[in-house]
Amino acid sequence: YADSELASAAVAGQIAELIRARAAEGQPCVLGLATGSSPTRVYEELVRLHREDGLSFQNVISFNLDEYYPMQPDSLQSYVRFMREYLFDHVDIKPENVHIPDGTVPPEQVAEFCRRYEEQIREAGGIDLQLLGIGRTGHIGFNEPGSGPVSRTRLITLDHVTRTDAASDFYGEENVPRRALTMGVGTILEAQKIVLMAWGEGKAAVVKRMVEGEVSDSVPATYLQRHPAVQVVLDEAAGAELTP
Ligand code: F6R
Repeated sequence: YADSELASAAVAGQIAELIRARAAEGQPCVLGLATGSSPTRVYEELVRLHREDGLSFQNVISFNLDEYYPMQPDSLQSYVRFMREYLFDHVDIKPENVHIPDGTVPPEQVAEFCRRYEEQIREAGGIDLQLLGIGRTGHIGFNEPGSGPVSRTRLITLDHVTRTDAASDFYGEENVPRRALTMGVGTILEAQKIVLMAWGEGKAAVVKRMVEGEVSDSVPATYLQRHPAVQVVLDEAAGAELTP
């Protein structure tokens, strides 16, 4: 796409179409959601479609990819707060249908929490459409280099590069949590459809490695090459290093 605004409107349109198609069949629509700067315009457009075009989220069940650990839900940097601000507070999604990894779970209950998160995704019928961004390390969710294709929801250690990229949100790298809860690469690959978005020249190198590079856990996003229904949605700058 010429720019991220056009691209985001197209992605939002695709999500809206899926929500409406499922509603027409009397079925839930299960969305896997991402935070960060990449999806913000998609959420803004979904809010606009809700307000101006009658798009209802009554049949939507959502599962977010990840959350910092530890993290209080009302903290400025929490993904709970992010999702409320950009989407959930502005649409008619049922609160009981929203799922975000819980950054307040005590350490001894983390494994059980993660097992239950996977179970809830299965009970909902699996994810219909998973939205993704990509980190400069090649992470999807917070699956940093070293994350394999069968990894599941778990507690991980954030890469140094990822913590540097998050430093401004936390007013200094020393304040960025060292760990996070994330769906695994294997969890993500089970979604029916995947839409990965990347904007700007800062993502061009990792986008090239993801699309054209060898599949390996040194760039976990390369495992998307094995999924049958992935769209990589880019602005011109993010796509600039791809082989024409
Ligand atoms: C966020 C997530 C991350 C981000 C990635 C890109 O929920 O899972 O993988 O998508 O770090 O972040 P932005 O979009 O801020 O460049």
